[in-house]
Amino acid sequence: MSRLTKEAKIGVMGSGTMGIGIALVAAINGHEVYLFEVSSSALEKAKKDHENFLKKSVEKGKLSDVEASETLKRIIYKDSFDFDQTCGMYIEAIIENLELKQEVFSNLDQITNAKTILCSNTSSLSITSIAAACKNRSRVIGTHFFNPVPLLPLVEIVPGIETSETTVNAVRGLMKAWGKSPVVAKDTPGFIVNRVARPFYGEALRILEESIADVPTIDWAMKKFGGFKMGPFELMDMIGSDINFSVTETVFKEFYYDPRFKPSFIQKRLVEAKHFGRKSGKGFYDYAEGAAVPQPVENEKLGKEIVDRILSMLINEAADAVYMNVASKEDVDLAMTKGTNYPKGLLKWADEIGIKNVVHSLTELREFYDEDRYRVNPLLKKMAKNNLKFYE
Ligand SMILES: NC(=O)c1ccc[n+]([C@@H]2O[C@H](COP(=O)([O-])OP(=O)(O)OC[C@H]3O[C@@H](n4cnc5c(N)ncnc54)[C@H](O)[C@@H]3O)[C@@H](O)[C@H]2O)c1
Repeated sequence: MSRLTKEAKIGVMGSGTMGIGIALVAAINGHEVYLFEVSSSALEKAKKDHENFLKKSVEKGKLSDVEASETLKRIIYKDSFDFDQTCGMYIEAIIENLELKQEVFSNLDQITNAKTILCSNTSSLSITSIAAACKNRSRVIGTHFFNPVPLLPLVEIVPGIETSETTVNAVRGLMKAWGKSPVVAKDTPGFIVNRVARPFYGEALRILEESIADVPTIDWAMKKFGGFKMGPFELMDMIGSDINFSVTETVFKEFYYDPRFKPSFIQKRLVEAKHFGRKSGKGFYDYAEGAAVPQPVENEKLGKEIVDRILSMLINEAADAVYMNVASKEDVDLAMTKGTNYPKGLLKWADEIGIKNVVHSLTELREFYDEDRYRVNPLLKKMAKNNLKFYE
């Protein structure tokens, strides 16, 4: 599909956090970009953010002065959604609201040429439900970028049930040309990352809820023995518990209340108190100047138990994504390293730990708690029984 070369014009709808980043990446990669926004202040902010980012890129030696000014010239800021037929691809990044997104897609479907590819950056809505607003659904697809878009390489490509293979291939090709790491995910709740990562938070919260360890100890253990760059509570505070809790709640509801994804009351209360984390000055940690920094209990045995429990749950979820055909094992591992900076792919990690050991840890949890939350994924059971590895 030649339309998605550098010559293809790219339309981006919504100049919020994600739209700003997506428009910038497309422009840096040589496309003429139309950034559509309904709020003039948001559009002003987008322009300023682009100028600042490009200025910093010049200071860091990543772009020349000329490249930076040419990039900025390629972005056309539009203060309404007056689409036309000229773009080869539109990427929608407006607020997470199905009715509003459907309205945008219905307009695009009517106005654009039948070969124009229509993408949504939704995190939690089904692509199929967004595509339902269009007559020609074969060209509607999810392109789930990660924040900050210019820095995080992962893009989850999500075909809806009527998306054509041609559309998938064209988008995958374009994302690779932009230097991104595309993975293809089935249109299921949370796609890959927002589903597989749930136990990183959920199991840490459960350990806290049971008073097995406190916040700094769990964070310390995950960094020290798991090799994670941030502990679960540090990360929830950085993301914001309002956002993190809402993703968990959505995934839980969308999975018809599967106990694997059950949200935590501790986090719910923090959200109710508006203790969102860094942005509100308080979350699991206190960010006020001079606030005491709580210290971990540096007990190696406890630390390793914490990592074993959370990691086993993460591997169980990664295996489930493969077992349920959400994505290939390679794409699951790529997604978790490129979208969330995990130190290793979870399935590669499972091979290193030994799948029998992972199954053993999960079985112990299942027997002790007698809860469905800890049920062992059938793929892991089969692999342990037959002494198999994910990667031979
Ligand atoms: N923020 C993230 O980390 C992240 C990551 C991946 C995907 N997403 C998804 O990307 C999309 C955008 O998220 P965001 O974080 O950039 O949101 P944002 O709130 O920063 O920006 C949303 C944009 O939508 C516009 N908007 C609001 N009401 C509108 C309306 N009625 N019609 C048209 N536009 C309207 C706003 O002016 C704003 O520009 C959402 O679907 C979100 O789920 C977000």
